[in-house]
Amino acid sequence: SLFPRPENEPTCNYAEGTDALTKLRTHLADRTVVEIPAVVGGKKIFSDDVEIIHAPHDRSRVLARVHRPSQAQVDDAIRSNLEAAHDWSRMDFADRAAIMHRAAGIVRGRLRHRINAATMLGQSKTLDEAEADSACELIDFLHFNTFNAQQIVTDQPLSVQDAQNRCDWRPLEGFVYAVSPFNFTAIGTNLSCAPALMGNTVLWKPSNKSTWSNYLFFEALEEAGLPPGVINFVPGEASLVTDAVFASRHFAGLHFTGSSEVFRSLWKRAATGIAAYRTFPRIVGETGGKDFVLVHRSADAREVAVALLKGSFGYQGQKCSAASRAYMPASLWPKVKSILCDLMAQVRIGDVADVSTFMGAVIDQNSYRRLGDALGAAKADSQVKVVAGGTFQDEVGYFVQPTVLQVEDPSHRLMKDELFGPVLSVFEYPDSAWTEVLEAVDSVSDYALTGSIFCTDRAALKQAQDALLHAAGNLYLNDKPTGAIVGQQPFGGGRASGTNDKAGSWMNLLRWTSPRVVKETY
Ligand code: ALA
Repeated sequence: SLFPRPENEPTCNYAEGTDALTKLRTHLADRTVVEIPAVVGGKKIFSDDVEIIHAPHDRSRVLARVHRPSQAQVDDAIRSNLEAAHDWSRMDFADRAAIMHRAAGIVRGRLRHRINAATMLGQSKTLDEAEADSACELIDFLHFNTFNAQQIVTDQPLSVQDAQNRCDWRPLEGFVYAVSPFNFTAIGTNLSCAPALMGNTVLWKPSNKSTWSNYLFFEALEEAGLPPGVINFVPGEASLVTDAVFASRHFAGLHFTGSSEVFRSLWKRAATGIAAYRTFPRIVGETGGKDFVLVHRSADAREVAVALLKGSFGYQGQKCSAASRAYMPASLWPKVKSILCDLMAQVRIGDVADVSTFMGAVIDQNSYRRLGDALGAAKADSQVKVVAGGTFQDEVGYFVQPTVLQVEDPSHRLMKDELFGPVLSVFEYPDSAWTEVLEAVDSVSDYALTGSIFCTDRAALKQAQDALLHAAGNLYLNDKPTGAIVGQQPFGGGRASGTNDKAGSWMNLLRWTSPRVVKETY
């Protein structure tokens, strides 16, 4: 076939003394303030409405100036999307796919260290987290989407390919609105490129906190030959862009990753306008999580502690998949606690440009205050014990210590509500209450994104998987609940966590098509 099944992108070796690390450090040390325009129909738009972007771990360092478009310029972006749609939707799939592959090649080649540096500085990611995101996952999305889309186009899952019948895999009629979050550079790539690969044109609004790394990728797409107007890069003020999008009769789909609350509000907006739209819009969203780690008495304490360290505190817990509530059998918790606290005492928190750092800062002042309020409330609550951490300081950057809290009530709000920070809440249960604890895991939180079960007893493991059928879209057995790999664990959850259309899979790609079935009689 044209594009064979891809391999996952291997990580770059950034060991001390390598050329790669030297190049990365050059980018990290570069103090040039980057000007980021909106790009509409291939034209850069600089405006007077400029947002200044600082490094979260070093608030005094200015990284970029983002030029936010006006309402009229967003309307222009929609017009430009609609103009580009005619040719793009009729272009051969192989040509669209070639552009995506070329963009992946640019990231792998000349852009890798630069986009990693932008992700580290702008989003406060450590080198390991940045490499996994803005290099590996980003490249994987482009390669696997192309491979999966090719299977749709050639294998014909509708089973209509014979002498008389065929299927045209048309895109949606109109444009797709892609709204991407700050926490993964790669998600911006997937939200914009998956619909584009299927022949749609896309208005892409990146999060203001990841605009720099997202823009670097957008430039790679242009360099790879993406025609003007196919994806318009619109880093605007959220409500201004959204108002313009939902006012258009040609709004045809929403590809969203972010909070459940914002997703609900966008869905309501789409519903309000439904009579005015030319088509019924496709709504695809991946939202929040309150991801569980359920531990059985048969589990290994060290494995659990390591999974909690990485799963709860990797990228400061700012992953929708982060482990944020744990259920511990009384016989195992003291040992897990002691190993976890030892590990936490060893990790380094601070400047992400130092490659030995394990945790950087949380993304911004809002996030810092929200977490500070939650930790303040926890400390004042007699039902909550601070096991480790709980402190924060913002003189240099927005640093929140990794924190473990223990609650007495499995229905406590710390076991329900997403905090999106480095905070793990633990409930200790008597070993004999396994069945009851399954009920608590399933029913207490509204979310159902990821979850882990640590258990080596096959019967108990089966019982837990059955009881938790709807509690997670990505379930891990004896592993941490973060770090899904494109092509291996297609990602998404149900309930309040989203529409579960599995990012990086053909399920997602099918949402961006509106097939035409053609029968010809001879
Ligand atoms: N896909 C990301 C993960 O699995 C959110 O951690």
